[in-house]
Amino acid sequence: MSTTFQLDTSTSRAHPTPQPMRRLTVPAIRRRKSGGVTAEPIVMLTAYTARQAQLLDAHCDILLVGDSLAQVIYGLDSTVPVTLDMMANHAAAVVRGSYHSVVVVDMPFGSYESSKEKAFESASYLLKASGAAAVKLEGGEAMAETVAFLNQRGIPVMGHVGLTPQAVNVLGGYGARGRSDAEAEKIVNDARALDEAGAFAIVIEGVVEPIAIEATKSVSCPTIGIGASAQCDGQVLVTEDMLGMFDRVPRFVKKYADIADIIEKTVVQYAEEVRNRSFPTEDQTYQPKA
Ligand code: KIV
Repeated sequence: MSTTFQLDTSTSRAHPTPQPMRRLTVPAIRRRKSGGVTAEPIVMLTAYTARQAQLLDAHCDILLVGDSLAQVIYGLDSTVPVTLDMMANHAAAVVRGSYHSVVVVDMPFGSYESSKEKAFESASYLLKASGAAAVKLEGGEAMAETVAFLNQRGIPVMGHVGLTPQAVNVLGGYGARGRSDAEAEKIVNDARALDEAGAFAIVIEGVVEPIAIEATKSVSCPTIGIGASAQCDGQVLVTEDMLGMFDRVPRFVKKYADIADIIEKTVVQYAEEVRNRSFPTEDQTYQPKA
């Protein structure tokens, strides 16, 4: 799918007043953390559609086309069934809807784990098809060689440690990680291995706070927390979760709005107006020219 194709007709909603602004780059994100300090925390949110990207873009540093679209968009139980084409299509929409944030796209389960060559094939397809700048993949030490391989071949990689949802069938659920000494040690070692392999940033998800802090202090690249710690170098949430689209969300989510309630009230009003014929009015109706 080409991202250079632009609709340009008077009726298109595709490109409402794009603002002239340079897009952030992966090295600029990496440089945010210097000497172990991140003066300006990194703001990341998930985005799956062009319009959502337009609304979030100017306020974020990174838009993540997360494979959480499995549950959020497709109503799937987990991220396991997500395909490369699903990710490529949503990432292309997000790139078209943004002009400022770095767009990072998740590599779906099964597209990168078996070999570094397969990972390159999948990642290069995602970047070519979408115009995204980087990929994210789950896993620590086991993925370090792959991260170095991709990075050395022009594909920036964001790591993801702690609770790694693609491994739900091994982990047995979505509970917080790092409660035992062995798990805690593994998380810190995983983060270190990704950092040494050249990951430009690492998501730390669902990890008890002291271990998230230790991992953050142990790596030179920025960490981005979700259910981790305010001391991570940035934060990410699933946008629909923080907007209040769902009743059930993980405890680490802060609901900044109740968008589900707004949608429901709006639809109730619309349905009422259709049924009592008060919509459409003259304002929404075409008449022949006089
Ligand atoms: O898929 C996703 O949305 C993610 C974030 C929760 C980090 O990986």
